[in-house]
Amino acid sequence: MISFRREPATLLNRLTYLWPYLRPHRRKLTLGILAIVAGVLLGLVSPLLVGRAIDAVRRHVSAAELAGYAGMILGFSLVQGIFTYLQRMVLVAMSRDVEFDLRNVYFAALEKQSPAFFHQYPTGDLMARATNDIQAVRMLCGPAIMYSITTVITGLGALLLMARINARLTLIALVTAPLVAGATSLFGRRIHLLFTSVQEKFANVSARVQENLAGVRVVRAYAREAREEEDFGRVNEEYLEGNRRLIAWSVAFHPILQALIGLGFAAVLWYGGLLVIRGRISIGQFVTFQLFLGKLAWPMIALGWVVNLAQRGTASLVRIQKILDAEPAIRDAADPEPATPDQIHGSVRFRSLTFAYHEGDAPVLSDVDLQVAAGQTVAVVGRTGAGKTTLLALIPRLIDPPPGTLTVDGLDVRRMPLARLRSAIGMVPQETFLFSATIRENIALGRPDASLEEVARAARLAGLEQDLAAFPHGLDTVVGERGLTLSGGQKQRVALARALLREPRILLLDDCLSAVDTQTEELILSNLRQVFEGRTVFLVSHRISTVKDADLILVLDHGRIAERGTHGQLIAAGGLYADLHQRQLLEEELAAV
Ligand SMILES: Nc1ncnc2c1ncn2[C@@H]1O[C@H](COP(=O)(O)OP(=O)(O)OP(=O)(O)O)[C@@H](O)[C@H]1O
Ligand SMILES: [Mg+2]
Repeated sequence: MISFRREPATLLNRLTYLWPYLRPHRRKLTLGILAIVAGVLLGLVSPLLVGRAIDAVRRHVSAAELAGYAGMILGFSLVQGIFTYLQRMVLVAMSRDVEFDLRNVYFAALEKQSPAFFHQYPTGDLMARATNDIQAVRMLCGPAIMYSITTVITGLGALLLMARINARLTLIALVTAPLVAGATSLFGRRIHLLFTSVQEKFANVSARVQENLAGVRVVRAYAREAREEEDFGRVNEEYLEGNRRLIAWSVAFHPILQALIGLGFAAVLWYGGLLVIRGRISIGQFVTFQLFLGKLAWPMIALGWVVNLAQRGTASLVRIQKILDAEPAIRDAADPEPATPDQIHGSVRFRSLTFAYHEGDAPVLSDVDLQVAAGQTVAVVGRTGAGKTTLLALIPRLIDPPPGTLTVDGLDVRRMPLARLRSAIGMVPQETFLFSATIRENIALGRPDASLEEVARAARLAGLEQDLAAFPHGLDTVVGERGLTLSGGQKQRVALARALLREPRILLLDDCLSAVDTQTEELILSNLRQVFEGRTVFLVSHRISTVKDADLILVLDHGRIAERGTHGQLIAAGGLYADLHQRQLLEEELAAV
């Protein structure tokens, strides 16, 4: 089962998730914060200077003194500008570093997951987390940190200096503050909810696109284009609709804030004017006060935006963390078997193994008891859905067998180090997967250091020689995405060559020549006979001709081993296998007519 840490509820709690990612960059973070503080403090000096200058003008100041004020203001602004530049350079760069780290750990986390994980999370969803969510976390680390600190320090500094001019005027200026805070919180919550749902809708859109691109052949073959467009239009529309609602709320936010802030200005103009008339404060102080109030307006607006960024960023962080925290269902045991040999021989034993994909479901395999000595070839036949693929997938632990039911070289596979177990196994899955690379790279997937001769030999053993000769660049021919430019049988043989090149102790061939014609298959099988020598081989096929020479043939039926023996024994027994044989002989005869 995939387990999650409990989801932290409040914004502050969610923010604690961020620390592990900021920690490595704490020096940049500190430098950036110092630059912010210095810049903001310097910025608070200008209003004071302007006020002084105005009061000086009233006292008939000399031109030189006035120029002195102007020079000072210019100087402070310049230095402030330098700090602002520094702060952005450092923090924006840091946010990119965090983004880079996060993307790497996210990818690494995905690489560890078992195949079952990807049934739970569709690709589109995982892609959305990798793009939009990581982006939102970056915004949290850069702009959100920058603006929240600017806001707090500007706010506190300006208020302090305003209170020094006149405390009551400051209180009046703040009458609208609770309204601003209320609006910010209301809008913040609403926007956060809408944003989360927009992210989910975006995931649906990407999932659709992704599936359609992967399944392009099926879509064309079944002339599903119009229907798919219609369906896509629908999820896209939902995404748009979600965005519209988000926009409606976030766009209304600014004008409302501005109106509230305007109210504050009006109140100050009225009461501050009175104070000036009564001679309680100078005109210069009045102007300074107004300038500070102006400086407060931006932090108040920014506050809403920062809360917004923080909401989005932390929501995204939780979504990413969910994946990072998902325990890989299949991994190395806490107490790996110390006796695991470096060289696995390849004896495989199933002990009354019963397996179901999900708890409570009917078992797919029941009571499988089987002992295979190292070097034996075991063939598995049986109707479609009988459990052949499942039986094979258990050996490299692509799915986990119940503890103690499956041993390799006498050791429980669940307690062997995964890498060692898997490095001893070569598998050709029923559905091949090729990467968009050259044929050579595809074959050398499990042994990137293999020489050209080794790759060519594997290709020859897999019966690819003639095909390669016909390709424009031979082994260096690039196959399209997922091997789109190869025929089904060619793809299967590239996958076979890939497994052979590893020279594994245990070779699992899951119906891997199903798309190859009988003649070619026979040629490949005669090649393989020398490869099989000394290796443990599990050979799944629907064709009797493929399996008849195996040391042991199993007939699986509804997850049970219904018959076992050599070809001769099973024919003599006259059961399922003999029936199958009879039918295939008949088909062959009919085909020959
Ligand atoms: N990931 C899965 N989750 C749940 N059930 C599964 C899963 N994979 C396979 N099954 C079920 O397990 C049963 C056995 O499937 P399996 O793929 O092992 O059959 P098979 O013998 O290889 O068939 P075929 O000859 O068609 O390849 C089937 O009923 C299938 O529906
Ligand atoms: Mg199968």
